[in-house]
Amino acid sequence: MSEINVDSSVLETIQNFKLPNDLTFGKVLSPFMIECDYADGKWGELKLVPYRQLSLDPTCKVLHYAQEIFEGLKAYKVKGEGPFLFRPDENAKRFNLSAKRMAMPELPIETFVKSVEAMTSYSGHFIPQRSGDSLYIRPFMFATDNNLGIKPSETFKYLVVASPSAAYFSTGSVNVLIEQEAVRACPGGVGASKTGGNYAASLLSMINAKKLGYDQVLWLDAVEKTYIEEMSGMNFFAVYGDKLVTPELTETILEGITRKSILDYAEFIGLKVEQQRMSYKELIADIKSGSCTEAFACGTAVIITPISSLGFASGEKVHLKEATGKVTMKIREGLLGLQEGRNEDPFNWRIKVEKKF
Ligand SMILES: Cc1ncc(COP(=O)(O)O)c(C=O)c1O
Repeated sequence: MSEINVDSSVLETIQNFKLPNDLTFGKVLSPFMIECDYADGKWGELKLVPYRQLSLDPTCKVLHYAQEIFEGLKAYKVKGEGPFLFRPDENAKRFNLSAKRMAMPELPIETFVKSVEAMTSYSGHFIPQRSGDSLYIRPFMFATDNNLGIKPSETFKYLVVASPSAAYFSTGSVNVLIEQEAVRACPGGVGASKTGGNYAASLLSMINAKKLGYDQVLWLDAVEKTYIEEMSGMNFFAVYGDKLVTPELTETILEGITRKSILDYAEFIGLKVEQQRMSYKELIADIKSGSCTEAFACGTAVIITPISSLGFASGEKVHLKEATGKVTMKIREGLLGLQEGRNEDPFNWRIKVEKKF
């Protein structure tokens, strides 16, 4: 941690920071952030500075051409255990995959990990302690050249902010609309990168889904509009008895770290796992016949959230046999317990961070 340049004026503010009683997801912000600038072909030093507004030139490239990437991960301190991070090196690697695709400079893995460890370490005393709550950490990078030419920026800013947060969904399960018109990502595009435009492109469908009484949108492949891909901020699993099935990875799916961990964890507890092309028509038929018993969404923010129904804009809807199924809840309890420090960690995924306060 010694290489982080700490602005000492912020230490008293951090020490005096108190958590409000009512936390939601992503609204309360830690009073500091971590910053690092890229110029002349290299990264500068990591700085811990007060949380503050940014001042951008109106021609700042990110505002016009969306050269931007981000990550999302959590620090856990349930009942005072920890704080723990969960596989931050995986977020660092995915950040660099996104950077490459968006013509941005890679950030050394150690710099990324060091920055999220510092965020956790200095936030130690205000990480919420209820199971399901956490410090949600948001590292991001954006283009900072100021001019209107469409070409890659040569300067960039990397920032890390964090939000002491409650669970993402306040409901126990979600209703999901299968989107048959709009698409999220297409072959050759940027669907496998965590870049803002993918999320902007999903919002109109989200508005329509809410109007129809759904909580989330499930995306299909752009070419045949047949194969299930993922949701706007989470991956998808279906449960067939003691077997988990999830869409195989393509260049249009973001590879979730939760997804990847579930595949290993499920095998570890004796479940079968399959990654395959999943036709939505077959899934609906399997839910109707009862062979598919449960379905769930997974991601860092949403943890593992059961899906209670899947439907279409036409009004057709099917309900899962088990709205909060046994297998789903077993995986949720197992993985969350590992992340929060209650369960053994045979995979060495959990990292303990030393608290500064
Ligand atoms: C589009 C998308 N898919 C899947 C995920 C799940 O990824 P992870 O489990 O790494 O949070 C996310 C969340 O980051 C996402 O934004």
